[in-house]
Amino acid sequence: MVSQRAREVEISGIRKMFEAAPPGAINLGLGEPDFDPPKEAIEALCRAVRSGENHYGPSAGLTQLRDAVAERYQGRDPATSRDNVIITGSGSEGLMATALALYDPGDEVLVPDPGFVLYGPHAKLCGAVPVPYPLDEGRRYQPDLEALEARVSPRTRAIVVNSPSNPTGGVFTKATVQKLLDFAEEHDLTIVSDEVYEEMVYEGRFASFWGHGDRVVVVNSFSKILAMTGWRIGFLVAPRSLAVEINKIHYHMLACPSTPAQRAVLAGLTESGDAIRAMVAEFRARRDLMVRGLNDVPGLKCVPPAGAFYAFPRFRWPGSAQQVAHALLSRGLITTPGDAFGALGAGHLRLSFANSRENLRRALAILRAYAVEAGA
Ligand SMILES: Cc1ncc(COP(=O)(O)O)c(C=O)c1O
Repeated sequence: MVSQRAREVEISGIRKMFEAAPPGAINLGLGEPDFDPPKEAIEALCRAVRSGENHYGPSAGLTQLRDAVAERYQGRDPATSRDNVIITGSGSEGLMATALALYDPGDEVLVPDPGFVLYGPHAKLCGAVPVPYPLDEGRRYQPDLEALEARVSPRTRAIVVNSPSNPTGGVFTKATVQKLLDFAEEHDLTIVSDEVYEEMVYEGRFASFWGHGDRVVVVNSFSKILAMTGWRIGFLVAPRSLAVEINKIHYHMLACPSTPAQRAVLAGLTESGDAIRAMVAEFRARRDLMVRGLNDVPGLKCVPPAGAFYAFPRFRWPGSAQQVAHALLSRGLITTPGDAFGALGAGHLRLSFANSRENLRRALAILRAYAVEAGA
């Protein structure tokens, strides 16, 4: 018999869709850039492998890379040093290590609904209870403080926030960040801020939670921004004493992050600015194409995503999000049903626009044809 915790969690709804897809389907289901990593990063990874850097490294990551990350975060808090930084084996691992370092059985953790698929299950794996807080398109996905106040209790340990958001594309304003910091202060909560899409912002400005007191952990990743989702490399930034605790868990999960991948990241961070800017500019163009196209489909309404690379339209077609997503799948389009991200995602589909413009146009044609069939 397996453990209770193993029985409590499932593989996410995103993976299920794509495993059921017909051959040749257009995949707007998975959240990853359709770009290669920058060439400098690829070369650095190959160089590292060929020159024998194929062995264990320090648990918290290469000093040089921790310093490089710390330097970037000094703009937010000048006192940031490598002691605040842990290089992880991905954002996913960073989130789990943080959860295990923070949550005790019986704790409650506020998680966004709709929100990224790992936050709730990670809380459960720690024996904690995820408490969803609503994010509403009518508020451009800025959290409602009254709704948060109604859900906080003496057992609440932390709040997970994600801006820019997967799946909604919402980006918190500076005022929202300040309100959440005040809320966390008032209720003595740790803020776990998932900032993996920080550089993909199309409207407004990204506001980080780092640099505002000592109750914030920022989880971040190189997966998206350096288009290296398969290399499994990320980082987190935490108050020093908490970083020591998270590093213990991280050591027990991973021993250390990949040495060649860290070399690749170092090269990517210092030499690939142009490639990163070009990728983000392309995402912006695709986002505009997608939002225009979706809002032209009868029965769909899409709030323009301010960041990340997902459109999260609401549909007014018969059937549940699962049923609509399956109907689209049989017509050659992979999407993710909105309720894979929480109960409030029902009535939405998530479509990644990290795909070629040609495929996005073909996807929009499938949606238009489906809308006609669905009688919208
Ligand atoms: C919001 C968010 N956080 C974290 C991750 C994890 O990314 P990775 O594990 O590839 O670093 C993802 C990936 O889709 C994401 O969308």
